[in-house]
Order: sequence, then C-alpha cells, then structure tokens
Amino acid sequence: MEKQFKRTTITSALPYANGPVHIGHLAGVYVPADIYARYLRLKGRECLFIGGSDEHGVPVTIRARKEGITVQQVVDRYHTLIKDSFERFGISFDVYSRTTSPTHHKLASDFFRKLYDEGKFVEQVTEQFYDEQTGHFLTDRNIKGECPRCHAPEAYGDQCEKCGATLSPEELINPYNAETGNPLVRKATKHWYLPLDKDQQWLEQWILGEHKEWRSNVYGQCKSWLDGGLRPRAVTRDLEWGIPVPVEGAEGKVLYVWFDAPIGYISNTKELCDAHPELGSWEKWWKDPETRLVHFIGKDNIVFHCIVFPAMLKAHGEYILPDNVPANEFLNLEGNKISTSRNYAVWLNEYLDELPGRQDELRYVLTANAPETKDNDFTWDDFQARCNNELVAVYGNFVNRALQLTQKYYEG
Ligand code: MF3
Ligand code: ZN
Repeated sequence: MEKQFKRTTITSALPYANGPVHIGHLAGVYVPADIYARYLRLKGRECLFIGGSDEHGVPVTIRARKEGITVQQVVDRYHTLIKDSFERFGISFDVYSRTTSPTHHKLASDFFRKLYDEGKFVEQVTEQFYDEQTGHFLTDRNIKGECPRCHAPEAYGDQCEKCGATLSPEELINPYNAETGNPLVRKATKHWYLPLDKDQQWLEQWILGEHKEWRSNVYGQCKSWLDGGLRPRAVTRDLEWGIPVPVEGAEGKVLYVWFDAPIGYISNTKELCDAHPELGSWEKWWKDPETRLVHFIGKDNIVFHCIVFPAMLKAHGEYILPDNVPANEFLNLEGNKISTSRNYAVWLNEYLDELPGRQDELRYVLTANAPETKDNDFTWDDFQARCNNELVAVYGNFVNRALQLTQKYYEG
C-alpha cells in the first residue's frame, strides 16, 4: 500500500547567484514546483515551498573577477534580482533565503562537524594543481592545457571542447592557470571525503528497489551511477569563498558547494519556522517520517539529490529522505542551448520589464511545452502561436461562450 503522509516539504533547486534566472530555470524547476505547491494548498494540505539562492561555489567568484567587484557584491546583486523576479512572476515560495545567511553557515558547519566527529568521513591527501604565483589551488575548470588526445592547445581540466574527450587535469600536457596563464605545479593537500562506496548497497535497495515509480530519466541516471559503482567524493575544497571547514588544521579550506547548498533547504526552513511559530518546529518538516520530502530540480542535479544528499542525510541519522525527485530535462532557446556564462537566455527580469502583466502567458507556454521527458525548444513564434491560438482562441472562446450562455439562459 502507498504510504500516507501528513505534510509535504517541497524544495526547488537553489539557483546560483551568478546571474539572473532565465526561462530554462522556470520551465524545468520553478513553475512545476509552484504548480505543485499551489495544488496542495488548494487541496487544504499542509505544505511548505522552500527556495533560496546558492551563493557559494566557483561560478560566483569567476563572475566577481570578470566584473571587477567583490564576491559579496556579486551575490548581493543577484540574490536581490532573483528574489524580486520570482516575486513579480508569482512563484509562491514560503521562504526565499540565501546560503550566506548566518543560520545556514551555522547549520551547515554543525552538520559537517557531526559527521566528522562520528568518523563518517575519510581523510585523504592528494596532489592538486597549484599556482605558485597566486598561491591558489585550481579547480578542473580553471585549468587549461594541451589535449592529450587531439593536441588542441586549450583543453579544460575536465573536458576538451575540440574533440569532446572527458579529461582529468593530470592528463593535460603543460597545464596552466586558465585565467593568469601561469604554469602549474602539483602540491599535496588534505581533504575530507564522503565514502559513498559504503552507501552502495542501501542506495541500490532504496532507489532501484523501492522507488521504481520515480521518473524514468531520474531512475535511469541513478541506475547508471549505481551500476558504475560509487566512489568516495571530496566534500571540501581549497578556496577562499565558502563555509570554512570547522576542523583544526583546515585553514584556507571550505565546504564543497554541493555539500552546503542542499543543507540550505533545511536552513531556509529553519529561518521560516523560527520566524513563524504557527508553522511548528522546523524539525517536523525534516525529521518526521510522516513528512513527505520532494525535490524539484533540473537533470544536471540528479546525482546530488538522489545519491549524495541522501547519503549525507543518512550519515547524519536524524533526517528523512526524499520520497520523490522530479527532475526535468532542458529547455533550449530558438534551437540553441541556454547559457548564463555565454549570456544567451531570456532573462526573467527582462521579460517582466518588457512584457508587463504577461506572467500568465509565460507560465502557460512553459507548462504546455515543459521539457518533462526530453529537451524542448522555446521559440517566440511558438509563444505567439500558443497565446493566440490556445489562450485567446480556444480558452478565450470557451470562457466567452460560458459567460454568454449564462447571461442568456440564466439571467446572468
Ligand atoms: N545551484 C545549483 C544549480 O543551479 C543547484 C543547487 S541545488 C541545492 O545547479 F540543492 F544544492 F541547493
Ligand atoms: Zn581534444
């Protein structure tokens, strides 16, 4: 028999505060999650809809260097812009906070510390690429060099865009800092890893055995990760921006953004409930087995929400696990991939400014054309046709007839 739940905690992926949100985010995550939250509320069900900005990680630091401002200024700017746009668009979050909040820093830090104290991590020293001139360790994406396969001169540490090869930075010939051009050396550094290999068995049972009802794209991705065998994953990084690793001897290290960000769902719930006692304790929304947890995400987030975050929650021991993780595919724009870094998108704030009062038209088109089972394409011609043919002609005509008949036969 299907499990009966008392209440639902709905989360939507926390967007990176490195740019505005665009129609791809809306179609994949925020409109579907908002529809679900509104539906549950209409049914009189107890639910919370949690949102917020993801303000750590490398992308915000890259943006800051590009714009010549501080990282704090970047996240302040985009957090405000994103929050306002969601509000104007009508995404009905119960809370929209941010991962730089003091509540979150403390909760994420305590979460790490509990796992650390209970010996749930493995420590490992590895050699990483280091720029002696700037004194920084570099992430894969910030390392460039000659591709070992096709010998293109500018392959990235994780991939060669010329021949498509998946790479790791050690394979590059003459690696250098992508930003400064400085040559790199290898240097030993210690990090903490979540030993996911030890979670293999229960994850297989839980997902592949007990959650066959998950969407086939989600189930399929999980199956292929599990079939490939899980390996330990580093949950700390050598970076300046982020939540400091709360352990002696970890100076200059921060929590990996994918470790802290999902904990942000919990922190934001806590902020909300602390300010609104009528909602009950935040713990009831995260620790009571009668609460149903649902994560709305895009397909690039599947492994983190179905495997890594559940492994963290399980290791912690007090939390419930997600009951479902509806992930969507991507929305393209006029046949091309939407990209924040390449500045190719329809930005929500610009849509709201240029087409004031047209929120429902966009909600409708993004829902009618939602990328549920495959990538879909958004085009302005299709937008126009759907507004004219489906909303004005079909729906408008239906409403008009119903009103006219009511007027004529039932005295209005
Ligand atoms: N910022 C991530 C992205 O846009 C999503 C983070 S979801 C969370 O892909 F769970 F980590 F919060
Ligand atoms: Zn190549």
